[in-house]
Amino acid sequence: MRPIQATISQSALQHNLNVVKQYAPHSKIMSVVKANGYGHGLINVAHGLTDTDGFAVLGLNEAIDLREAGFEQTVLLLEGAFSADEVQLASGFNVDIVVHSMPQVEMLERAKLLRPINIHLKMNTGMNRLGFVPNEYMTIFNRLKACKNVAEITLMTHFATADEDVGIAEPLQRFQNTIKTLKQPLSLANSAAILQHPEAHAQEIEGSWVRPGIMLYGATPVSGTPASEFGLKPVMRFTSEIIAVQTLEKGESVGYGNRFTANKKTRVGVVACGYADGYPRHAPNSTPIAVSGKLTQTIGRVSMDMLFCDLTDAPEANIGAPVELWGNLVSVDAVAENSGTVGYELLCAVSRRVPMKVVA
Ligand SMILES: Cc1ncc(COP(=O)(O)O)c(C=O)c1O
Repeated sequence: MRPIQATISQSALQHNLNVVKQYAPHSKIMSVVKANGYGHGLINVAHGLTDTDGFAVLGLNEAIDLREAGFEQTVLLLEGAFSADEVQLASGFNVDIVVHSMPQVEMLERAKLLRPINIHLKMNTGMNRLGFVPNEYMTIFNRLKACKNVAEITLMTHFATADEDVGIAEPLQRFQNTIKTLKQPLSLANSAAILQHPEAHAQEIEGSWVRPGIMLYGATPVSGTPASEFGLKPVMRFTSEIIAVQTLEKGESVGYGNRFTANKKTRVGVVACGYADGYPRHAPNSTPIAVSGKLTQTIGRVSMDMLFCDLTDAPEANIGAPVELWGNLVSVDAVAENSGTVGYELLCAVSRRVPMKVVA
């Protein structure tokens, strides 16, 4: 079997959940586990987060998987129901839904449910992705409040710039101005807002939520600030091995397109990991990688199943030497930054052919 593996640490998940609790001690925690637990495996992650108050997913199938695995916490569909059947099923599986559009309001009003459903009513406070604009929000709220199919209503928004210097003051003000006469639980903060904007934790309002995603997995939501500065631990170790070693003379090249040419005698390790495993093809020369516990760098173009690293200063590293693509020695954020993307994308992209192992 190829030596590639993603190892998922449940203790790191628990640790990161505790970091959320330190930052927002009085809020309920809605752990965002969509996209197959940000690439870590939905059920793997859920088992590491048993102390969470809720799970947020995208598809009803994921919500049902959580229920069938025995999780009894709140489960929320972040984009709500996509059809009347889904409203029915969500009610049956005791799954909460976001309501962000008029057709979703109408579906709820028309539904014949055995039990009413909790909703998270989304306001568009400036991101212009999902939600009702402040002008129409109160009308929709009152309509849903009167709807027999609706149980509890949580007031929700999502910030576009919680991780940017501009912050969230404007959208938060817009939100607060709109809902000032209501006494309902709120749900506002993603990881960046949990870590940087306590004013969005809504801790003073009983039953309010925070919605951590990336921080649970130990990657940073704030580019330029390492996750370790927030006290977070990486949950995934993406590892493989050296499967061949080549020696380049000065002037010789390696890999497709000859993208790396040696300017001196260079020892090259061939690693069993490529873009079909989820490593970014656009990672440039000099992206950090660790071999036998020592930092070195990638060279040449990443191919489908293999990539190359410089072993010139690691003469002891031979076929079978362990490689960490990201994890404890190399942060996923460092690989992402070199590749012009974010840790989120790399974690979600680890492919199905990579075996996953869960460790305590
Ligand atoms: C509505 C919503 N809330 C919370 C999150 C979690 O965000 P983050 O991973 O930045 O914490 C997401 C993620 O995309 C989201 O879409």
